[in-house]
Amino acid sequence: MRTRSSALAATAVAASLALALTACGQNSEGGSKDKGGDGKGGAIGIAMPTKSSERWIADGRNVEKNLQAKGYKTKLVYGEDNPETQVSQIENLITQGVKGLVVAAIDNKSLKNVLQEAADAGIPVIAYDRLILGTENVDYYASFDNEKVGRLQGSYIVHKLGLDSGKKGPFNIELFAGSNDDNNTKYFFGGAMSVLQPYIDRKQLVVRSGQTGLTQVVTLRWDGTTAQKRMEDILTSSYKSGRVDAVLSPYDGISIGILSALKSDGYGSGGKALPVVTGQDAELASVKSIISGQQTQTVYKDTRQLAKVAATMVDDVLKGKKPQVNDSKTYDNGSKVVPAYLLQPVSVDKSNYRKVLVDGGYYTESELK
Ligand code: GAL
Repeated sequence: MRTRSSALAATAVAASLALALTACGQNSEGGSKDKGGDGKGGAIGIAMPTKSSERWIADGRNVEKNLQAKGYKTKLVYGEDNPETQVSQIENLITQGVKGLVVAAIDNKSLKNVLQEAADAGIPVIAYDRLILGTENVDYYASFDNEKVGRLQGSYIVHKLGLDSGKKGPFNIELFAGSNDDNNTKYFFGGAMSVLQPYIDRKQLVVRSGQTGLTQVVTLRWDGTTAQKRMEDILTSSYKSGRVDAVLSPYDGISIGILSALKSDGYGSGGKALPVVTGQDAELASVKSIISGQQTQTVYKDTRQLAKVAATMVDDVLKGKKPQVNDSKTYDNGSKVVPAYLLQPVSVDKSNYRKVLVDGGYYTESELK
């Protein structure tokens, strides 16, 4: 592996290549753009997973804003949930001579080769929200306490069903997890199950579908339609009688799919109440759904803070300063333990959304109408 200083020549070549590419008009691919900042610190490449979820749009915008405020140019690309697209986008960013990379991986194991190219060019890499696995070429990790996200979802279900205040059940629950190629998935599910499993063992919570293992409950690429289909199948096969009382959902886009399946099955009307349905990200559609009494809960993660942490990490590394971290043991990516800064997630439902989301400036009251 080459050192950062010996990569200067490579960077110069890369910069002229980038000019050539731009001249060929290939620099507009994937929404890549240069804007803002005086560019004194050079350009930082930001690779986000998809525009189909509003959180990542906000993440991209916020990372750009923070970097531009520090004097960098930014090149933001979205891989539309296609791992190969993301790899070639990162390759392009390297060719264009970016000085640093902020990457939210689509497939946590697909970036090994391209990150070797980044390392060879002396480009530091920050893993954004999702840890990148199987490579030592990840400098830092900025995320939330992902295990706690799951615990907040699990405890919410237990509390809402009254299991922590004397109710015995049994209640029926179904379980959903995120994408199997996202490292966060096992933390979310593990955290939730650490709370739910004892109740399942005591048969106070019953998973009628019998689908309780992580491999049975994952949802590729966090896709809401995939989750909707699985929920429909479960309702057909396991709930000819009786009702679902709770659904563990790891992410708002999945929750919306689950709710569609439930509503098509008659839940939410004619006296058949919707089950408790959790979520994550406080996406606008889900917060509105919570206000109107459909989705029950979400886990809010302030992406403005995450963007700030990630931007500060890149800036520190480029200035030769050691970034602030608060976890140096949890996030082993198979090649090394990646030093991390973890922010705190917050459980949000109808009772506190105003205080957390509106007073906190994440949404205005009128956006939630
Ligand atoms: C995860 C992230 C979640 C959610 C999900 C789907 O990696 O931590 O907050 O956004 O992806 O996009």
